[in-house]
Formats: sequence, C-alpha cells, structure tokens
Amino acid sequence: MKFIDKIKEKFFKKDEHSLSVRDERLIARNNRRAMKEFEKKKNRKNVPEEEYLSQMKDENNIVEFEGLKTYFFTDVGTVKAVDGVTFSIPKKSIVGVVGESGCGKSITSLSLMRLVQAPQGQIVDGSIRFAAKDGKVYDIAKMPVSEVYKIRGKEIAMIFQEPMTSLNPVFTIGQQLDEVYELHFNDKDKKKAKEHSLEMLNLVGMAMPENVYKCYPHELSGGMRQRVMIAMALACDPRLVIADEPTTALDVTIQAQILELLKNLKERIDGSIMLITHDLGVIAEMADYVVVMYAGRVIEQGTAEEIFLNPLHPYTVGLQKSKPVVNKKVDKLYNIPGNVPNPVNLPDYCYFRERCDKCVKKCAGKYPETVWVSPTHCVACYRYAERH
Ligand SMILES: Nc1ncnc2c1ncn2[C@@H]1O[C@H](COP(=O)(O)OP(=O)(O)OP(=O)(O)O)[C@@H](O)[C@H]1O
Ligand code: SF4
Ligand SMILES: [Mg+2]
Repeated sequence: MKFIDKIKEKFFKKDEHSLSVRDERLIARNNRRAMKEFEKKKNRKNVPEEEYLSQMKDENNIVEFEGLKTYFFTDVGTVKAVDGVTFSIPKKSIVGVVGESGCGKSITSLSLMRLVQAPQGQIVDGSIRFAAKDGKVYDIAKMPVSEVYKIRGKEIAMIFQEPMTSLNPVFTIGQQLDEVYELHFNDKDKKKAKEHSLEMLNLVGMAMPENVYKCYPHELSGGMRQRVMIAMALACDPRLVIADEPTTALDVTIQAQILELLKNLKERIDGSIMLITHDLGVIAEMADYVVVMYAGRVIEQGTAEEIFLNPLHPYTVGLQKSKPVVNKKVDKLYNIPGNVPNPVNLPDYCYFRERCDKCVKKCAGKYPETVWVSPTHCVACYRYAERH
C-alpha cells in the first residue's frame, strides 16, 4: 500500500457507509476482471448459431425472460439492477411493467435490446428468449453483439420517455425517417423512402406531414416528437415495441392521444408492446398483463384484472392505495413508508420487509419463493406460501 493511502486509512475516520482504500482497490480490481471477461464473450466473432438458439417454453409467447441478471460493476460495488427476473410477453398483447423509480424496469428492457451501458453494465446470467420472424428462437442474452443487429430495430423497436434524446438534433425528421426505410427495406430509392415516411407521419395523425418532414426535432412540440418516434417504430414493422415511459413528459390530453396511437400501433404491426410506466392509470387503460417489479425482482405478476381486482403483494396493494381516485376525497394521499433498499447491499430476506406492515413469522427467513395462485397470477410473499 502506498504511503499516502496508509495516512488516509490511519487519520480519516471511516463511517459505516464509506469504503477503505483497500476495499476500493479490491472492488476496482474485481470489476476490471469481470468486465474484461464479459466484454470478451460479447465481442466474439463467428460464434456458431447453436450457442444462442433456443426453444420457447410456450409457443404463444414472443419473449420469455428467465432468471435475467443484469449488474453494474461500479466503484462502490456491484449494483444488482436486475436480479433474477422471470416473466413472459405473450404474442399480440400489451404487458405493463410497473414499479418505483430505480426498480430495474428500464434496465430489463435495455437488456432485451442489448443496450445496457457497457462495460460497467453486463448481463451476467439468465435468458431472454425471442421468437423471431424467421421462425427461430434466439436467446438474446447469449448472442454476440455482432448478431444482435439482426433483431434490434428490425424486430424490436423502442420508444423512449424523452424523444429529444433519441432523435438526432442535426438531421431533419424526413432524413431520419427515410434512413429507417432505407435500412429496413435495403432500398436506396429516395422518392420511395419519402413516400413511405410521409405515409408513416400520416398514420400517426401528424397534421401537415410535408412540413414536419422538413423540420428539425427542436422545431416540434413534445407530443409531435413522440408521434415521430411512433412513426419510426411503425416504419420498422417490428414484432415487439418497448415503450419506456412514453407519456411521462407529455400533458394529459396529449398523453391520451399517444396511448391511443400505441394501441393502434399494436393492431397495425399485429405484435406486442412492453409498456414501462410508474403510472397505474396508464397500465389499467392499456395492459393485458401486469408485471410488478421491486428492487430488481418481479414480486407479482398477473392479468390486469388479477392485479387490479385482487392485488396480493403488500407492495402492489400499497402502490394502488397511493394512486389518487376521482370522486374519492382523502385528507392525505397514502404513501408507502421507507425507501427501496440499496441495490449494492441487498439483504438476504424479503426486500420489502423494512417497509411491510403485513409481516408474518416466516418473513424473518430468506427471500420468499414465487407462489402461483392461478395459472397467470404469481406472487413472491410468505403470506401466500402456506395456502398453495
Ligand atoms: N449506468 C449505470 N451505472 C450504475 N447503476 C445504474 C446505471 N443505470 C442504472 N443503474 C441502476 O440500476 C437500477 C435500476 O435502474 P432503472 O433505470 O432500470 O430503474 P427504473 O425502474 O427504470 O426507474 P425509473 O422509473 O426512474 O426510470 C438503479 O438502482 C440504478 O441506480
Ligand atoms: S414476505 Fe413478508 S415482509 Fe415480504 S412482503 Fe410478504 S409479508 Fe411483507
Ligand atoms: Mg426507467
């Protein structure tokens, strides 16, 4: 250890949240080793297809996440952003993913697109099975990066919360839409590309598409930009659209229009939507199935009816109680007490225990197993373990 480090350790008092110089070095060394290994695996060339071909457990699903673990190797330790997530997206359905900020919703979707910020962020375990148009099932989590381009953008499209960050500010909307056409149809005919782009803008209800075609992103309103993003998703003719908080940055009337457009988009592509939001109202309006996440894990999932009419996990119940209801006067809106646990040092018992007012004796034990209470409804909570 260097002299300066020795001085630091000796004279600067260590509190329980700080790391010693030795700890920091150890973390950095382990991180470097882990990241190097994962990056090497990801960037391999000429990987035989058999290594990442798989089989769906249920032919009616388009995506199956199984035991997905996506970690970030940071200077303060390993952040377990997604820690063993298992759920499916059935064909031609809308699956809503809901949960508090930081619970891993976006990282789950970014793992599916293989867009997790590397080298810190890595899929360390699990499978993401995707039923592609060519009839094959790819395990996206195991695909080398060079192969992911076959699927990303072509079969899976993504719509983000703030479209300004995903549209390129130095190109016109027309240029960006034309590029999607050119890449997707492998056709360099400018006239055809423009016709197609204008058709897409028309389809998403854009007034004066010819004008919008010539605009730069900053010349459009937030709602118009989101419509452009939906037009782009439509232009790719994907089988699955991931919409990550697509209406959060919009005002309520525009929100309703965008949600309607998303529903139309689903019908038009005859595919599925993974809708990420923290707004239960949006989920109730849109989703066929609901997945509730908490601290990187799925704690409950079921059909929209099951989750809204019969929520089981105390966290899901709390989420619903904290939603304002029209015609119901309350002095103070309910809020779930406490905070989500630190993702670096997750406990080995139920992550919700510190905030739960429904604890039973068994809750002192290890993290609860998932219990299926109907063929579509499951929950990870000890209160239901003994009944089934
Ligand atoms: N680049 C990164 N480096 C380190 N940790 C990260 C990084 N990106 C995300 N995380 C961590 O991963 C966890 C999950 O983040 P994620 O973005 O998936 O949350 P979310 O559920 O989408 O939240 P929100 O509703 O606020 O969008 C968080 O604890 C976050 O701090
Ligand atoms: S397992 Fe126990 S602590 Fe965890 S949510 Fe259920 S009742 Fe609460
Ligand atoms: Mg997010």
